[in-house]
Amino acid sequence: MIPVLTLDGPSGVGKGTVASIVAQKLNWHQLDSGAIYRAFALAAMDCGIGIDNLDGLLELASKLDLEFKSNSDHAPLSVYLDKVDVTTELRTEKTATVASKYAQLAPLRKVLLVKQRQFQKPPGLVADGRDMGTVVFPDAPFKVFLTADPEERARRRLKQLQVGGNAGNISHTLDGVRKRDERDKNRAHSPLKPAKDALIIDTTNLTIDEVISKVMAIIEV
Ligand code: DC
Repeated sequence: MIPVLTLDGPSGVGKGTVASIVAQKLNWHQLDSGAIYRAFALAAMDCGIGIDNLDGLLELASKLDLEFKSNSDHAPLSVYLDKVDVTTELRTEKTATVASKYAQLAPLRKVLLVKQRQFQKPPGLVADGRDMGTVVFPDAPFKVFLTADPEERARRRLKQLQVGGNAGNISHTLDGVRKRDERDKNRAHSPLKPAKDALIIDTTNLTIDEVISKVMAIIEV
């Protein structure tokens, strides 16, 4: 059985940063499932396929040409859609909002689920998202759920946007974080929630290094 560490949690909690550092420490593969939903949203927007055209969306999802490339310096993975680098576009608030809307569609989640499970390769996988521990890898031996206050998450998200070359302001970012939380928590299928066997870590007042130590501790026991 190839081991999986699932890292779930809401927008801006720092899952991606923790996932890439832990994956490098363990020398495991990494799955940024949010990037799959975001890339899908970009592709759908490019093709002009709206949320009411389910057949069109499912066809697009089954043909999605997506590639991830890791960077050596703990930077987020670079993402290529149809061989084009979409890493910066992927990180905008607009893409996140559209992704969160499409992510409510159960048949679409089913198609994307198959793609996500293909990332489970030796020697192991660090998978971050909303439903990694509950739906995509329910048998994972290591499960973590990260939380933090919305204000702190909006601050982190804004910083991340700025580093990625995208502009933003705090009240707009906080509003986006809150709206995505609502949608992701209350949707009927695979809502954002901790798996029963997940370790819950409130990161509001923790540094990245402190969070990493807590996560590594459950793997190294
Ligand atoms: O983690 P993120 O902010 O990149 O995710 C963007 C959106 O994608 C999120 O608001 C909901 C959706 N998503 C999801 O439904 N399930 C996942 N496992 C990951 C992301």
